[in-house]
Amino acid sequence: MSTRPLLTMIAAAGHNNALGKNNDLIWHISDDLKRFKRLTSGHAIIMGRKTFESMPKALPNRKNIVLTKKKNYQPEGAIVVHSLETAMALVKDDPQPFIIGGGEIYRLFMPLCDRIELTRVHESFDADVYFPDIDTKSWKEVAREDISATNDQPYNYSYITYEKQ
Ligand SMILES: NC(=O)c1ccc[n+]([C@@H]2O[C@H](COP(=O)([O-])OP(=O)(O)OC[C@H]3O[C@@H](n4cnc5c(N)ncnc54)[C@H](OP(=O)(O)O)[C@@H]3O)[C@@H](O)[C@H]2O)c1
Repeated sequence: MSTRPLLTMIAAAGHNNALGKNNDLIWHISDDLKRFKRLTSGHAIIMGRKTFESMPKALPNRKNIVLTKKKNYQPEGAIVVHSLETAMALVKDDPQPFIIGGGEIYRLFMPLCDRIELTRVHESFDADVYFPDIDTKSWKEVAREDISATNDQPYNYSYITYEKQ
């Protein structure tokens, strides 16, 4: 008997939900990137074409699934799909597939997701892509770890886990 995958969005967003600008990330928090790698390694990751193109290459040790409407798009190291349904069919045997962004893809998949692993950076940033609002009627905070700024990185931030009620 197969169990339903725990579909998880993973994102880092500013206080004002800022996610990115000019198809790039806004801040660099190396511990957060390490956590992203630790949580997602070995799993399928679903992303939009713009997020895929913002990275130097496909992320290793993960099944990279890229959503696009472009019919002849075939980048190295990724499986290209043209619909949410096809993406979901490709992850049905993964116990915890991840939605890794960006803004359009978070919005598209949010209604289907069971968990959000959010790194909330406690600053507002100028951005052109934003994380969707988390409706507290349907999402409950179940875990939180607060991290203080240091000499190496200037932001206070929190790792917050939400689960769909
Ligand atoms: N802070 C974070 O955690 C985080 C994480 C990821 C990304 N980001 C940032 O987010 C930004 C990118 O986000 P974005 O919203 O601009 O783009 P995106 O969500 O990465 O990709 C959007 C693209 O996905 C494809 N797409 C969307 N809906 C689709 C559908 N229903 N069917 C098929 N394809 C579909 C389209 O590709 P085509 O145009 O090819 O058809 C669309 O242009 C960058 O700045 C990146 O750095 C931040």
